[in-house]
Amino acid sequence: MRTIHSLILGSIALLVSASLYAESPTEIYQRRVIPLLQAPAGSSCAECHLQGVKLTDFLSTDPKETFAALRARGWIDANRPTESKILQFIAKKPEKSTELMNQVRRAEVEAITAWIQASLADPDSLNTPLPKLDDLKLDEKLIQHARRDQVVSRFVDVIWSQFERCANCHSPDRNSKQVEKHGEQISWIVPNSPEETLQLLEERKLIDLDHPVDSMLRKKGLGLEDHGGGSKFPKDGQTDREWNKFLTDYAAVKKARYTSSSELPNFASIRTWRNGLHLRIKDLPNFTAGQYAVIRIRRILPDGNVAEEAVAIGEGRASKEGTSWSTTLMLLEPPQLRQTEQAVPWATLMPDGRYQIEWIVVDDSNQPIEKLLALPAMKIAVIDSLWKAGHSNAKTISYSEFQ
Ligand code: HEC
Ligand code: HEC
Repeated sequence: MRTIHSLILGSIALLVSASLYAESPTEIYQRRVIPLLQAPAGSSCAECHLQGVKLTDFLSTDPKETFAALRARGWIDANRPTESKILQFIAKKPEKSTELMNQVRRAEVEAITAWIQASLADPDSLNTPLPKLDDLKLDEKLIQHARRDQVVSRFVDVIWSQFERCANCHSPDRNSKQVEKHGEQISWIVPNSPEETLQLLEERKLIDLDHPVDSMLRKKGLGLEDHGGGSKFPKDGQTDREWNKFLTDYAAVKKARYTSSSELPNFASIRTWRNGLHLRIKDLPNFTAGQYAVIRIRRILPDGNVAEEAVAIGEGRASKEGTSWSTTLMLLEPPQLRQTEQAVPWATLMPDGRYQIEWIVVDDSNQPIEKLLALPAMKIAVIDSLWKAGHSNAKTISYSEFQ
């Protein structure tokens, strides 16, 4: 009897204290939400949005004003509060996350759910006038641009796509000899993981967020800084311009420098991929050192006609003596895949066979790739088969073989 009696009394006491001391939405907000907004771990949004979207952009220190603003945005569902859009944003979880971020997410969901539920039962909160909708416009293009998945995808398209030029010496699955000679720090590629590679480049300060154009990644790649691997592509050429754009854009996103999507750069509309075939042209007549030139490669079809679309392009500058010129080939994204999200079947794009090589001297290297593809050929040579990838297997053609 005694136990039942005290149980009943105990429950009554609990009920009374719950209704007497239930926290107001403002108290919940101050006790549970504000500390999350100030937490050093940051908001869970930052796991996917590098710029432009964090909880403090949407949750101020004033609970009633925040409640009204979230309702005006349509981010609170008064009928099904637990399905509110703000909670759905918070619940989003990247494939790879950390235990710390999972805790942050859980804390955010619990605190904000409790606060929303209390606010929906609170006449004062419900009666706060909603702000005008045009104060609330989000720059969705900027939000999209600064999303981690989009940033990584640009890294792949612009930088990672060219790493065939670097991997023999800088990727741990290929560079054991280089490591013996120069030490572990020579490895800065994480095989098969563009995302981790980008992170590593930043941590090792090979990408310079304050002066992105002076990043070691670029300066070593161009041979501007003394580089064990020499110059890998021409300064101010197509690759260099795209790398510059990526590095500058990446730094702007990481440092939250953009204020509007009108400031975003345009990247080349055609994606390329280095395939490791080296091509050298020797016996150049009367060339100045550093003269920029490109080659374009078209397939010769079984019927003998030359395909309309080029499959690859290469760019380079004439050697110091002005007598030779070399490049590695960049496969071109086929026209039917341009502007689509589809993956490009790079490995299949250039099968063995006959190809026409077109030589074009270009005085102003500052030409978008579409322009380079449209310039008339100056000289043409034909090759009957492809050669092997790698520097030591470079194919050399004498300029006199061009017609
Ligand atoms: C797991 C990754 C991820 C997390 C974490 C994440 N988002 Fe997003 N967010 C996306 C993706 C992807 C999109 C693009 C639209 C979509 O697929 O839902 C997006 C789009 C958006 C948009 C613009 C378009 C829209 O749907 O209204 C806003 C605003 C937004 N997120 C806010 C947030 C906020 C606020 C947080 C943190 C509370 C957050 N996101 C957390 C991945 C994420
Ligand atoms: C033939 C080998 C070789 C190739 C190919 C090569 N490098 Fe290097 N790279 C080296 C050597 C050797 C060093 C170390 C000595 C030095 O710093 O120059 C180095 C150093 C670097 C460093 C500095 C790393 C550090 O942490 O100090 C960067 C960045 C770099 N290279 C970028 C590139 C890029 C970008 C490419 C491709 C576009 C490339 N390298 C291709 C040989 C190569």
